Amino acid sequence: MEFSQQALPYSQTPSISDAGRLQKLVTAVSPDANARVLDVACGPGYVALAFAEVCREVVGIDLTPEMLEVAESHRRKKALTNASFQLGAAEKLPFRNQQFDVVVSRLALHHWETPRRIIAEMARVCRRGGTIALEDLITSEHTRRASFQNRIEKLRDPSHTKALSASGLVQVLAAARLEIVSIHSGELVQDAERWMQTSRTPEKVARKVRALLEQDEQRDLSGLTPFRVEGRLHFRHKTLTVVTHKL
Ligand SMILES: C[S@@+](CC[C@H](N)C(=O)[O-])C[C@H]1O[C@@H](n2cnc3c(N)ncnc32)[C@H](O)[C@@H]1O
Repeated sequence: MEFSQQALPYSQTPSISDAGRLQKLVTAVSPDANARVLDVACGPGYVALAFAEVCREVVGIDLTPEMLEVAESHRRKKALTNASFQLGAAEKLPFRNQQFDVVVSRLALHHWETPRRIIAEMARVCRRGGTIALEDLITSEHTRRASFQNRIEKLRDPSHTKALSASGLVQVLAAARLEIVSIHSGELVQDAERWMQTSRTPEKVARKVRALLEQDEQRDLSGLTPFRVEGRLHFRHKTLTVVTHKL
């Protein structure tokens, strides 16, 4: 429900389509030109299409039809014939074992109820020696600060389940018997009002989110480090990209 309503505003968020950011992810993965790539929870398809520019074939899968419509229209605009998008759940990927050379997912893990199960699915469909890469928001390493961030995120968007800390993200990948190859940190500067417009946060809830961000601004409660630009509330989302090899 949330994802259906968010498809258009989300796809229009500049940081999501940012070419430099997409290029960083592709460079971190450094796929072979002959690679077959799967983008799990592909949303509006920016990651899938960035890989399609340099790889043989890319499949994007997502459970929200409205996101896939946006992805398909981006594909058509770019006239890329080696990318396709399909409806499906990450918990049960509709592919045989070891079908892909690269399996990637960006900004989706914090929505997943069962990240371990999904990572196991991503590993199952990746060939041995292939690459699995995850990029997501991360929280503080300190439980109370992480909980404060997750509380704000969940209020703003009920489809938020739980963002992990950097060490939590690494651990969940290592637990799936994946070899960590490289780790890249990043940052997304968010304008709080724009961020809540994207998720269509109702005004009554937005007031609570603002109040929590203001507490955080005054007392440094999460690591989001809220700050003002001409009076407007902003904060910093920290991100981590972890590139692994399947053993
Ligand atoms: C924040 S968007 C990220 C989209 C895209 N990966 C990107 O980086 O722009 C999260 C996406 O995850 C999808 N999603 C969430 N849970 C999913 C699941 N269990 N299976 C498949 N897709 C899922 C949603 O439909 C949504 O399109």
